[in-house]
Amino acid sequence: MWRFLTRNKQVAAMMGLLTVAALVVVVMTTKGSEGGHAAANDEEPEDINNDPKVFSTFRLPTNDRFMASIGNGHVAANVFSDTVYMNGLYNGNKGESHRARIPNWANIRLNSTLSHIPYSPVYSLDTKEGAFKVRVDRERSIVTQRIFAHRYYTRAIINQIQVMAKAHAEPNFVRHEIWIAIQLIPGPDSEDIGFKDPVPEIIEGRTVRSTCGQTLKSEDIVYQPLPVEVCVFWTSVPDHLVAPQHGSRVFTFVMTADTNRTVAREEMIRVLQEDGEELYDKHVAEWQKLHQQAHIEIEGNLKVAKVVNAIWYYFLSSLPSEDSHQPLGRFYGLSPTGLARGGTLEDYEGHNFWDTEIWMFPSILLLYPKYAEKLLQYRLDVAYVAAQLAKVTGHKGYRFPWESAYTGVEVTQPCCPEVAKYEQHITACISFAVRQYLATTRNEEWLKHGGCDIVTNIADFWASRAVINYNTGLYDIENVMGPDEDHSNINNSAFTNVVAGYSLYLAQYVSCLCKSYYSVEDPDHWADIAWSLYLPYDEKNDYHPQYEGYVRGESIKQADAVLLGYPLLYKMNTTTRKNDIVYYESVTRKSGPAMTWSMHTIGYLDVEDKAKAGAMFSESYQKYVREPFKVWSELQSPQVGAANFFTGMGGFLQTLIFGYAGIRIHLDRIEITRPQLPPETKEFKIKGIKYLGSSLSMHIQATSVTLTVSSVHDQWPLVMNDGRYNVTLTPGMTVTLPKDGISTIRAVPWKDCKLPADIIGQNYLRPIGS
Ligand SMILES: *[C@@H]1O[C@H](CO)[C@@H](O)[C@H](O)[C@H]1NC(C)=O
Ligand SMILES: *[C@@H]1O[C@H](CO)[C@@H](O)[C@H](O)[C@H]1NC(C)=O
Ligand SMILES: *[C@@H]1O[C@H](CO)[C@@H](O)[C@H](O)[C@H]1NC(C)=O
Repeated sequence: MWRFLTRNKQVAAMMGLLTVAALVVVVMTTKGSEGGHAAANDEEPEDINNDPKVFSTFRLPTNDRFMASIGNGHVAANVFSDTVYMNGLYNGNKGESHRARIPNWANIRLNSTLSHIPYSPVYSLDTKEGAFKVRVDRERSIVTQRIFAHRYYTRAIINQIQVMAKAHAEPNFVRHEIWIAIQLIPGPDSEDIGFKDPVPEIIEGRTVRSTCGQTLKSEDIVYQPLPVEVCVFWTSVPDHLVAPQHGSRVFTFVMTADTNRTVAREEMIRVLQEDGEELYDKHVAEWQKLHQQAHIEIEGNLKVAKVVNAIWYYFLSSLPSEDSHQPLGRFYGLSPTGLARGGTLEDYEGHNFWDTEIWMFPSILLLYPKYAEKLLQYRLDVAYVAAQLAKVTGHKGYRFPWESAYTGVEVTQPCCPEVAKYEQHITACISFAVRQYLATTRNEEWLKHGGCDIVTNIADFWASRAVINYNTGLYDIENVMGPDEDHSNINNSAFTNVVAGYSLYLAQYVSCLCKSYYSVEDPDHWADIAWSLYLPYDEKNDYHPQYEGYVRGESIKQADAVLLGYPLLYKMNTTTRKNDIVYYESVTRKSGPAMTWSMHTIGYLDVEDKAKAGAMFSESYQKYVREPFKVWSELQSPQVGAANFFTGMGGFLQTLIFGYAGIRIHLDRIEITRPQLPPETKEFKIKGIKYLGSSLSMHIQATSVTLTVSSVHDQWPLVMNDGRYNVTLTPGMTVTLPKDGISTIRAVPWKDCKLPADIIGQNYLRPIGS
């Protein structure tokens, strides 16, 4: 990630785009704070709920950028905002492409939460039911509003308002019906989509309005010759609800959206046919399924438990449903601020970066491999555009753009051409994600349907990027930028060379896996280049300079060379690993994003410095998680940067799964190294780890670590070695793992293919010419 607030503002001013900010003007702001429970101030509202899965507050965040969101991977919105975003819906040419704003025809407010009436609404984000709730305790009734993007009726955002009459002390008291004032606040017309005037019709006895419109600008004239059409239906909203004076009633309001009018309309019909409570139960059941498939539980540290639940809630809200009433279309990726954001310059416009593959992907892969496959599918879908980018820049194979959105062309903003030009490591990062995917799934069908192709073409790109240096006899990769975006146009970035080298090795391995259906001329040439790729190493200080010519002491933006140790798992001496960690901690600027500290946490765990790991762990989330809804900011409080920053969340999850739980993914095995509790926790469970079709759960306590086997796939029986004994894992079994050692879990090899050497710059330590 690369954009800083200051840079954004300059660019915005330059492009006359500051009006874009108007799109996110949200109606709620501080009005919710007038309930009398907390003085309106700049402090973040407290989460008053002790349930780790529910976050409740009397006061909405003062800064509306920290508001909770709802979503189901197809549609998403920040609660009470005037904007809905839809998967794959963008407006703007090239670097101006951003999520297109649909007015929020699902933004319904209870007047009693907006006016000065002395009610004290309670706002809750319920991460287990996947809904945002508002509860108002009135004189004669309790009103509960539920706002959610339906997980089964995926085109729909639904508001349900339940009015429950209170029992009255005097039975003969003459009472009247209960009136609840509400209003719909969709916000101004869209500047991205040319919607026609809404047309009313009656569906299932309800007045429903609908409109269709087209996005105004295509992202790229070649790859998107036509604008995208989107159609929206919404039930009309009266200015008040009338509920009976006894019992309770549920009122349901629906908004549906799709690129296909028939689909959006059909969804509206079906939703209106459902009974209110059943409609909600169906939604909750889908979230429960997700929870049953995988789940992380933390005991003894409510804050960390809540942060983890929030992360999965936000991730899953931006990922497509597995079950849906009507089939889903293409999925356009997981952007650094998710589906609910990205219409503005600040929130990365819904573009896809390396953030997906390096920061979010690994945890999603281990717990929800089907979603990991969706993330890779986005890259496969746009691979033909990456082929073109490689070609026009004079290279071979696939070169993925630094930022991509609808078509897969480069959509980096005009402000910042250097990241698009030099941050080429993204192409290798995609291959690294594929490596992990193949390691944990061995999905042959996937290889056949694009997998072999993407791996070998990425390797072709790097083979064409590496140039032989006749002075050293090694290959160099020149003119790049590593993850540290403070240093542009450098040669031989340690991170880039290792991850590029891995992608070359992977192609050699994959072409063996694919050989019966995908032919390759000389698979070994890739490995030859990787073997002789230059890797900067400073013998005197026993550490990896970030790039060739890096001057020791110079400050950097974020984790870069330390990524060699993790996630790349590059083999090196412990002393080197330690030196990299200690040294780069001292030169990384504090204004960087959270992931740096996640990586240093894992690094210190690797070198068994628990105290330093704990300190880095706190650093990695405390100043980035914003109350009460656990939205992440890109920068430490009081600064903000992008929000809701999925990339930082991804780093944090990795600290838990790959750091404290110690899981490491290798092509032929997973390892569990010194599993231990995160700081100030009593229990740590990871349920539903998916490895080769099996489902495993880890349970870490202060004195013991166990692994429970839920299911094992017939094709890949697993054997665990705990350092001494081999155990065949069978369903229902619980085994104890050594706390201080390494356990490995593996199946028989996948075909008769030699694993890659994964050694880069081997020749460097040899005198030239020997
Ligand atoms: C609800 O509030 C809006 C805006 O404050 C107001 O215009 C409307 O009249 C109120 N509705 C009722 C029924 O009081
Ligand atoms: C990168 O290598 C090229 C070719 O050797 C050289 O001209 C250039 O100055 C180098 N760049 C840096 C930043 O060292
Ligand atoms: C790693 O350590 C071994 C033995 O301690 C040493 O021989 C080797 O040179 C070291 N490697 C590096 C890259 O420093």
